[in-house]
Amino acid sequence: MRSSFGSKIGMVLASAGSAVGLGNIWRFPTEAGRNGGAAFILLYLACVLLLAMPVMIGEFVIGRASRANTVDSYRVLAPGKPWVVSGFIGVVAGFLVLSYYSVVAGWTLDYTVVSFSASLMKPMDYGGYFDSFVRNPWRPVLAMAAFMAATHFVVARGVEKGIERFSKILMPLLFCIILVLIVCSLSMPGAEKGLEFLFKPDFSKVNTQVVLSAMGQAFFTLSVGIGCLATYASYFSDDTPLVRVAFNVCLIDTLVAVSAGLIIFPAVFSVSGAQVDAGPGLVFITLPNVFNSAFGALPVLNYIFSSLFYLLLFVAALTSSISMHEISTAYITETFHLERRVAARIVTAICMVFGVVCSLSFGIWSGIHVFGMGFFDLFDYFVAKFCMPLGGILICTFVGWDLKHSTVRRQLGSRFTPLLMFLFRWVAPIGIGIVFVYELMDR
Ligand code: PFF
Repeated sequence: MRSSFGSKIGMVLASAGSAVGLGNIWRFPTEAGRNGGAAFILLYLACVLLLAMPVMIGEFVIGRASRANTVDSYRVLAPGKPWVVSGFIGVVAGFLVLSYYSVVAGWTLDYTVVSFSASLMKPMDYGGYFDSFVRNPWRPVLAMAAFMAATHFVVARGVEKGIERFSKILMPLLFCIILVLIVCSLSMPGAEKGLEFLFKPDFSKVNTQVVLSAMGQAFFTLSVGIGCLATYASYFSDDTPLVRVAFNVCLIDTLVAVSAGLIIFPAVFSVSGAQVDAGPGLVFITLPNVFNSAFGALPVLNYIFSSLFYLLLFVAALTSSISMHEISTAYITETFHLERRVAARIVTAICMVFGVVCSLSFGIWSGIHVFGMGFFDLFDYFVAKFCMPLGGILICTFVGWDLKHSTVRRQLGSRFTPLLMFLFRWVAPIGIGIVFVYELMDR
């Protein structure tokens, strides 16, 4: 018997958990900070609605109609046809994304421990601290391995007892932490400037690069294009309204991303000299600085603010990494008829090896370049700029043009079906295709 989610709420929380992750709390503020704030956010919302959400719904249709892992789903729905390539792209991307994601997730775990022990609370050169931390050959590797072990612990327990149960605990925890942090950040003096940056669009900053970043962000944050959500949908019950679930997941994900902006930008603007366009260092270098002086006279509030923030990052990363792990675990379990525990061990072991390689590419292997990039950047490029858009195009084209119309209609069961068919057939493949080609030419 194939596993399934035991409850509607568990299923929505697990899918939202996949979407909500470092992409929302680390990548989104970084991209918004670099690309002009509100104008970027508007473009990003357009990409979510027109391009990424159709891919998500397409994945849901494929997963639930086939009730199989992402490779077998095409074998069930389109036997003998080459669509199965899309499934393989997903499995390969699943391994790679988990490997490099766990490196940054490991950093968040280390920063959580260090914040709770109050060692981040003394004034220091946070840039130097971060640099020497990521270059250290052991500490980030151990943190990555510990994070991977936590992911393994959940996935090995199965869909209902592992993924669903932990999502039901971790997601409410995440929402509570977000609320506390928003209150902390908005109560800082000068917070309004951060709100203005987040909500007042400056279109003079918009160029092709900003549009490309907005689509990349939409795909990464919604976990679409590599069969992750198709795998989850294969565990959905028959009466799950796919369109509504997809809409809710996109809504929760966007609210969390905007909340991360509400936590970070007011705090950063409030502390003079702090920069919003600091790039990936925003969360690990700029923010510790901000936390340290956030509530000058009340160091205990600084302590709570910073510890909870890194805990938030860690929890969000864990709910996403579980879903990445599940793509390959489901595939290996069903293809090689192995027990889930054994399949999960294989996935964890392979990803740990890749993870070590990615982690060391910040330190002792920083001189090794392939196609002009270190391993971490290479994996990220291959997944986010290649596999996700290509997978997205294939998924929409398959559902729009090849899958039986009656199957699609039955799965969707929604009055929006004609509109969605138009998006599957034309808008999404062409829109994603244009961005995809631009990205490739840009290199
Ligand atoms: N959506 C996750 C995030 O925002 O952090 C990242 C992600 C999860 C990407 C699952 C891909 C995936 F299959």
